[in-house]
Amino acid sequence: MEKIEPELLKTAAREAAKNAHAPYSRYPVGAALLTIDGKIYRGCNVEASSYGLTVCAERNAIAAAVVAGEKHFRAIGIFSPNGAPPCGACRQVIWDICGDIDVFLFDEYEKVQRLRSADLLPTPFDNNKLKDIDD
Ligand code: THU
Repeated sequence: MEKIEPELLKTAAREAAKNAHAPYSRYPVGAALLTIDGKIYRGCNVEASSYGLTVCAERNAIAAAVVAGEKHFRAIGIFSPNGAPPCGACRQVIWDICGDIDVFLFDEYEKVQRLRSADLLPTPFDNNKLKDIDD
C-alpha cells in the first residue's frame, strides 16, 4: 500500500473548505477522506438558519464516500482556520464508519497534527459490541 501523502489531503481539505456554507459562524471547515484504494472524498460544513441542522465537514465527507459505495478507509484530513480537532459527534461517526484511521489536522499555516481516531474517542459507544449482549 502506498504511503499516505498528508499534503494531498491538506490540498483536498483546503479546497473543500472554500465551498463551506458558513454564513453564521464564518468558520469554514473542509474534510478529505482517503479510501483504502487511494480515492479522496471531500466534505465541507453546511450551516442552516436553524443552527442545529448544521452538518460538519467530516460527516459530509463520510456521507459522500458512503453514497459512492466505499466501505474501507485509511485516513481523514481536516482543514480549519485553527487546525481544530473534530467535534464529538464527528468522532463517533468517524469511529462507526471508518474505524481506527489516521486523522490529520491542518490549519492555515504549516501546522500539521497527526492522531488516530481511537485516540480521539478512547471509550467509544461501539455498535458492534451491542451484538455481544444477546450472546
Ligand atoms: N464544524 C465542522 O465542520 N466540523 C467539526 O468537527 C466542528 C465544527 C463546523 C460546524 C459549524 O459550521 C462551524 O464549524 C462552527 O462550529
